[in-house]
Amino acid sequence: MSEEALRQAELVVRTIAQTAVDNETYFCELDAVVGDGDFGYSLARGFEIVLSDWDELGYTDPGSLLKKTAIVLTKRIGGTSGPIWGTAFLRAGGSLSNPAPTGEEVVAAFRAAIEGIKQRGNTDLGDKTLLDALVPAVDELEASLGEGASTAIERAAVKAREAAEATKGMVAMRGRASYTGERSRDSVDAGAIGIAVMFEAVGKAWQESEVERTGGAK
Ligand SMILES: Nc1ncnc2c1ncn2[C@@H]1O[C@H](COP(=O)(O)OP(=O)(O)OP(=O)(O)O)[C@@H](O)[C@H]1O
Ligand SMILES: [Mg+2]
Repeated sequence: MSEEALRQAELVVRTIAQTAVDNETYFCELDAVVGDGDFGYSLARGFEIVLSDWDELGYTDPGSLLKKTAIVLTKRIGGTSGPIWGTAFLRAGGSLSNPAPTGEEVVAAFRAAIEGIKQRGNTDLGDKTLLDALVPAVDELEASLGEGASTAIERAAVKAREAAEATKGMVAMRGRASYTGERSRDSVDAGAIGIAVMFEAVGKAWQESEVERTGGAK
């Protein structure tokens, strides 16, 4: 069981990392509207090292994989996103002590990450940050756990997308986007869209891995 859990955790972290690398330009463009246009660059510089140093990360279970990832992100990503993403992975990893976590334990790890982001970013829901996509997505993940992991992730991704699109109309209260005040209402938050794109990518990768394992039967 813990072998399977580790494979799943690897799939999730690798997919998040690859998504950050693949969307460097797109995420920068989103941040350039009211920010300074470095969000995609920052994420990609951290996650590309996670991928290139994968074999030397030295993890043994899902929790340590997240913690080792956190160390790379904290070291490599500058500006605001380094501490935010580093703290999120560190807190999630610290929460996952079970080498074969249950769905409820995975949700608890997300909640720990969210608390870490709130503290580190001095922010909360409604400030127009990545939390405005992440929190509704995790709520949906928790509500859908009974449907099985694949469906729960898929539904969380749909919720993340809706919530990220809904950041258009909100005023940014944190980060560089907040310097533009009312003008920030006209665009979506870059970090929130980043969360949606990552959930969608993880949902797709998870489904593909299940098809591979079961030969197409669900
Ligand atoms: N204080 C904060 N707490 C949580 N998330 C934040 C905070 N500030 C910004 N964010 C998120 O980070 C995204 C931007 O990341 P980025 O790394 O570009 O930071 P920034 O605000 O442009 O600051 P800097 O460029 O100086 O690092 C935003 O779209 C938002 O989702
Ligand atoms: Mg920026």
